[in-house]
Amino acid sequence: MARVNENFLKLKAGYLFPEIGRRLCFFQAENPGKKVISLGIGDVTEPLPPAITEAMKRAVDDLSAEATFHGYGPERGYDFLIEAVIENDFNRRGVKLEPDEVFISDGAKCDTGNIQELFGLDNVVAVTDPVYPVYIDTNIMAGRAGKAGKNGRYDKIIYLPWKAENGFVPELPKKPVDIIYLCFPNNPTGAVANKGQLKRWVDYALTNSSVILFDAAYEAFITDPDIPHSIYEIAGANEVAIEFRSFSKSAGFTGVRCAYTVVPKQLKAYTKDDKGVEINPLWQRRHSTKFNGASYISQAGAVAVYSPEGREQTRKVIDIYMSNARLIRESLSKLGYKVYGGVNAPYIWVKTPEGINSWEFFDLLLAKANVVGTPGSGFGPAGEGYFRLSAFARPADVKEAMERMAHGI
Ligand code: MLT
Repeated sequence: MARVNENFLKLKAGYLFPEIGRRLCFFQAENPGKKVISLGIGDVTEPLPPAITEAMKRAVDDLSAEATFHGYGPERGYDFLIEAVIENDFNRRGVKLEPDEVFISDGAKCDTGNIQELFGLDNVVAVTDPVYPVYIDTNIMAGRAGKAGKNGRYDKIIYLPWKAENGFVPELPKKPVDIIYLCFPNNPTGAVANKGQLKRWVDYALTNSSVILFDAAYEAFITDPDIPHSIYEIAGANEVAIEFRSFSKSAGFTGVRCAYTVVPKQLKAYTKDDKGVEINPLWQRRHSTKFNGASYISQAGAVAVYSPEGREQTRKVIDIYMSNARLIRESLSKLGYKVYGGVNAPYIWVKTPEGINSWEFFDLLLAKANVVGTPGSGFGPAGEGYFRLSAFARPADVKEAMERMAHGI
């Protein structure tokens, strides 16, 4: 008899964004012809910059000629992209990496979801609350989370609530933890961590032999020069941190798919008899067993992001999203909402009006302004009473959404 992996039965009913899509479909069926503006899922709306599409077209031409055809690529990614990543994203910030510490993939969602396979089921996992749901759901699937309580939390997970009062930067855990997920700039709150705050986490991990899984998918949106873009800007982080990056939001690749993960060779986890084991070769082993590499076309597009034209063109697109973020922040502040984020991140975290919970606000905003956002409670119990608006939208739509909200909801 085939047995089901019962851990899957412990998951909350549906993944957050499909649930939003379901409610939206229902609303549209009931209200045909109403123009709904989505500031919900963080999906890019601007077309790919020409430097990238031209590079991808040339890659397609390569594939159509015998002399330049590519079949399976290296599982870890093409050297041309790995070298560009190291030079541009790390060396320029004073961080040294070896080529075999960078693993090109088809998405940071997959990598942040899959990385937990390398760690034993008895690890104590800490997540912030609110949190990007992938970190927690993949640990539930693996069997590391325990049972769900009435408060929406799983009893084996350590939750690090972050509050407006502490700038949405979580406190260190009170009990020792083994695996820590951090995301800066943060999805969903839009918060950032400065060097001192990140150093506390790195020092904690060094002291406790923990591993930090650092999601930096939104680093391109940092505007403040004092905010670190990589955890490896902090001394000692290469012994304790794995970093995830993505071209999805920075270069418009949500549909193209290309990302990378850095697994430093110094980073170790331990056997039951306390023997240190390097994680890098294990990720290499996993990657080459379960993955056949991101497509040649995506990687050719990704390397074009680092060309002078690519940099300039992607920067212009990022600026469009960040000016959306500014408009959302300013408009909602004027309307009397308490708003956070949106300065170094493309997400704006909004306090819902007194007495209205996150899903009630979602329904109200959809019904009255025909605007979709993401309920804060979908990111964890501490997100209750908050709402996330994404700056990934056409500027005209953001303007219209703000005007509609000004008319009252
Ligand atoms: C979000 O809206 O939180 C993101 O689009 C999710 C993702 O990147 O997977």
